[in-house]
Amino acid sequence: MFLGLDLGTSGIKGLLIDDGQTIIGQATAPLTVSRPQSGWSEQAPADWITACEAVFSALGQAHDLSTLKGIGLSGQMHGATLLDRADNVLRPCILWNDTRAAAEAEMLDGDPQFQRIAGNIVFPGFTAPKLVWAANHEPALFAKVAKVLLPKDYLRLWLTGAHVSEMSDAAGTAWLDVAARDWSDDLLAETGLTREHMPTLVEGSAPSGTLRDTLADRFGLPKGIIVAGGGGDNAASAIGMGCLEEGQAFASLGTSGVLFAANDAYRPNPASAVHTFCHAAPDRWHQMGVILAATDALNWFAKVAGSDAQALTAPLGPLQAPGRALFLPYLGGERTPHNDAGARGAMIGLDHADDASTLARAVMEGVAFAFADCRDALAAAGTTLERVTAVGGGSKSEYWCAVLASTLGIPVDLPEAGDFGGAFGAARLGLCAATGADVADVATAPKIARTIKPDAELITAFADKHQTFKAAYTALKEF
Ligand code: XUL
Repeated sequence: MFLGLDLGTSGIKGLLIDDGQTIIGQATAPLTVSRPQSGWSEQAPADWITACEAVFSALGQAHDLSTLKGIGLSGQMHGATLLDRADNVLRPCILWNDTRAAAEAEMLDGDPQFQRIAGNIVFPGFTAPKLVWAANHEPALFAKVAKVLLPKDYLRLWLTGAHVSEMSDAAGTAWLDVAARDWSDDLLAETGLTREHMPTLVEGSAPSGTLRDTLADRFGLPKGIIVAGGGGDNAASAIGMGCLEEGQAFASLGTSGVLFAANDAYRPNPASAVHTFCHAAPDRWHQMGVILAATDALNWFAKVAGSDAQALTAPLGPLQAPGRALFLPYLGGERTPHNDAGARGAMIGLDHADDASTLARAVMEGVAFAFADCRDALAAAGTTLERVTAVGGGSKSEYWCAVLASTLGIPVDLPEAGDFGGAFGAARLGLCAATGADVADVATAPKIARTIKPDAELITAFADKHQTFKAAYTALKEF
């Protein structure tokens, strides 16, 4: 038996698989985000531990965990968890969708070393600029920083007692030499840090430590359980989807939106604002376009409308031509393709006839147009998508998947019922680390239940509205 733990933004999920990879159980515990100022986004690491304890307890009550052999970790990327010499947490973790470090990111990005070595724009949400922000705004605290851990690696510290990260998540810090799969001493030095501040690195499918005996005793688990390196949530999801080979791709409609393509070589293209990171399997990389609000945008609108996302999307019938109302989903700035922390959302073209339903459609369309921007950015980076598999909470909306297919102009595959989020991929990585199995043999693709094809009669209308969407961003940027 193997356990995948995914530390997401809205909750922790634990998922158990047996030796044949059949899902045998799962448990979740919710998390909330604190937004003390516009553009800020934080969580208390202690809440991750509390949520993880709840997940272990729930799984232990429902299942016999005495045959658990391996645990894999997946997690929201880029967060800066700052620890002192005694591993005390110095401040709330600054999350992936926090854009306070925009000026610091721009400053680092102006140094050509960063794009050359880290292979990416230094986005404000990445980890390195957050440390420069801390040095500028919280210098006394910065002086105490002894270790910087990504969120799931803080969970690993609690689980194993070891400071370890793995390549896929480390690639999102802007301190990794992404081609060499090693920390860059030069990039660390530019932010006043050294290798000593960093965890050691393993591959995602390799062991990173063993579960502490005290935790094993507390949760009724066997001793010596291997904890795998795991992956950033997108790379871990890709392992769950069997997305390893060149040409394989998925669209994740989660809190963030991700258009992910696997690569068998390192192909950076920072100019397109595409992210190029190590994969969670050795000697593989991937590219992705990332938008900061996908289901986050629909959930925001549903709250404003006094409803919930499910109630707004479920009654929608077959795909309709794009409406007049146009939504820009930049509620907390945007990464691909704009790298614009100052961008904010907009709803324009409103009409007396609009109601919560037409505006919910506009929100789904706006997110799909942002995905089309990511498709174009990937194309500029040399990756053309033939089809994508849809995953994430938003993919449960048939309507949203239909909008996505007609906007991207490619078929959207829906996997058979299952769970293809980070937790499943993490469980697979736990299996590899504990048994020595090859990740390419373990990470098979799910059966496709259904394919939603682009609607030939509506493709042009969606493509036209995508052009309007792009023009609206440019025009509104002035404001
Ligand atoms: C990827 C990114 C997000 C988070 C969400 O670069 O920032 O997808 O990992 O959990």
